[in-house]
Amino acid sequence: MTTRYVVGSVKEFTAGSKKIIEAGGKSIGVYQVDDQYYAIRNLCPHQGAPLCAGITSSYITSKGPGHFEFEKEGEIVRCPWHQWEFDLKTGCMIVDPKMRTMTYDVTVEKYDVSVDEDQIYVHL
Ligand code: FES
Repeated sequence: MTTRYVVGSVKEFTAGSKKIIEAGGKSIGVYQVDDQYYAIRNLCPHQGAPLCAGITSSYITSKGPGHFEFEKEGEIVRCPWHQWEFDLKTGCMIVDPKMRTMTYDVTVEKYDVSVDEDQIYVHL
């Protein structure tokens, strides 16, 4: 069974923004990417850095010198301590998917029928 925690109003988020909350004794980073919300534990599995303090970026691929493509725009979180990168959607480290941080379900729901403002919830 999971417990639902309020993250805030959808109005607090803009494209590519994030919010770090405390929920269930844990620090959680909630991100908006392409109108979807993702939540990961704000704890790097390497040496315990506050992972969500890192920047978000893209996954860059190359077929050879002078050629590169950006994929997963805004979906990659880079740890501020040693720059390990994690996929927001899966929590998996890019170069070693066995290494991962926790991810959590996020829902957007009406907080109150009398208030015309959707709320974001994270489920732990
Ligand atoms: S603590 Fe995150 S990469 Fe080292």
